[in-house]
Amino acid sequence: MNKIVEVLPDKAALIQRSLEIVISKITKAIEERGQFTIALAGGSTPKPLYEAMATQNLPWDKIHVFWGDERYVPPDHPDSNQRMARQAMLDRVTIPEGNIHPMPTGGSNPSADADKHEAELQAFFQAQVGKFPKFDVILLGIGDDAHTASLFPHTEALQVRDRMIAVGNKDGQPRITFTVPLINHAREVMFMVVGDSKRAALAQIFAPTADDFTYPARLIQPRGQLWWLLDESAGGDLKT
Ligand code: 6PG
Repeated sequence: MNKIVEVLPDKAALIQRSLEIVISKITKAIEERGQFTIALAGGSTPKPLYEAMATQNLPWDKIHVFWGDERYVPPDHPDSNQRMARQAMLDRVTIPEGNIHPMPTGGSNPSADADKHEAELQAFFQAQVGKFPKFDVILLGIGDDAHTASLFPHTEALQVRDRMIAVGNKDGQPRITFTVPLINHAREVMFMVVGDSKRAALAQIFAPTADDFTYPARLIQPRGQLWWLLDESAGGDLKT
């Protein structure tokens, strides 16, 4: 694993830097493989990145968009990560609908929907069962509790090693989430972390020793390139 930690002066600089990196990876992936696959993070931090991507003249017909996790709500629900990304980016660009691969949340059975998305990923990547596909880029955030995607502290989803998709659990609310091994197989994993509320979590994530199941983002140790983009308020005094 190759880890790069960059502390940017503020959120705007972090968004600009993340845009530069994502665009460079889009160009590289399309040159090498004819397409680019990205898994979006939810929450609030990445929204300006999605808005900025929508202003770029990108080859959207060659870009496939997934989500690293999703709240178990309908796609038009205010909490939906899909809804946020469509409003911030996808509704503003000429991306074919077939290039958008949302996590299914419309049923009444999160486990069945997780299995459904597992099958969708297997089909898209032509992945053999038990083999993990390589996303070009997986974007992630962290919570104040050091969760990432919907991998929350001391939940079963943290231990899933033989599946791509699991059912996460936030205070009893179901989520659909990428698993640790799927994230760790990505070519590039990029954390975007803003705000002093994330300092304590970052200190534990970067600590030489701490419990991985208490601070789940510690489990993200990809074989590829790991990026930590932090703003000054989050990472200013971090020993990296
Ligand atoms: C989600 C996200 C989650 C998010 C962190 C950080 O569905 O909420 O995937 O993991 O990245 O909670 O959220 P903020 O960017 O809003 O701080």
